Amino acid sequence: MTQSTVAYWEPLWASGRRYRKITDPERQLLAEHLGPGHSRPALDIGCGDGLLARHLHDPLGYRSTGIDCAPSAIALADTGHREDGQPHFQVMDFATDDLSELPDPAYAVITCRLAYKFFTDKAAFLDRVRQLLVPGGIFWVVTELADRRDDDDPLQRLGITSHDREVLTSDWSTVTTVDLDLLACFALRP
Ligand SMILES: C[S@@+](CC[C@H](N)C(=O)[O-])C[C@H]1O[C@@H](n2cnc3c(N)ncnc32)[C@H](O)[C@@H]1O
Repeated sequence: MTQSTVAYWEPLWASGRRYRKITDPERQLLAEHLGPGHSRPALDIGCGDGLLARHLHDPLGYRSTGIDCAPSAIALADTGHREDGQPHFQVMDFATDDLSELPDPAYAVITCRLAYKFFTDKAAFLDRVRQLLVPGGIFWVVTELADRRDDDDPLQRLGITSHDREVLTSDWSTVTTVDLDLLACFALRP
């Protein structure tokens, strides 16, 4: 079992595990770097209980989709209230499932919050993200960095290594990095 599979994540969500909430400074960065959605499509990969996909939808104004490999996460995310224009939520393994199962063929914004770390084959993951980004689109990644914690801190494993960071930030036309406490946010443009 790897950390990018449903077998790893489903029991965590089903047993009540939850993850770091989006803070006001993070909301501010999203507004500054992604801008208003004007109903353009946005995709949140590894959306968990759907907070970011909902924020992309309202107030930012994207037509957002959240995907996660864990059915229990999608069950929490999807309130089923279609009439007030909720995001679309879908169970999907982004590493292996057919990308044509997504509701849109391409996205103006793709986000990945606290999930990049867990994709085993990062180059393959990034190839798939690039296939889905429109020209001029933006890939927004929020992640912990391992070197922000001491070597004897057991939570250091939650952060990406400097090699993972190098893989993430290569081959984009622009890379903007913003620090947010223990997190780093990356705005990557093809
Ligand atoms: C630490 S949680 C973060 C959840 C959410 N993005 C947040 O910020 O609260 C990582 C999420 O990535 C999802 N995930 C991991 N591998 C995945 C994959 N291959 N495809 C889709 N989702 C995946 C997990 O199920 C989990 O919900």
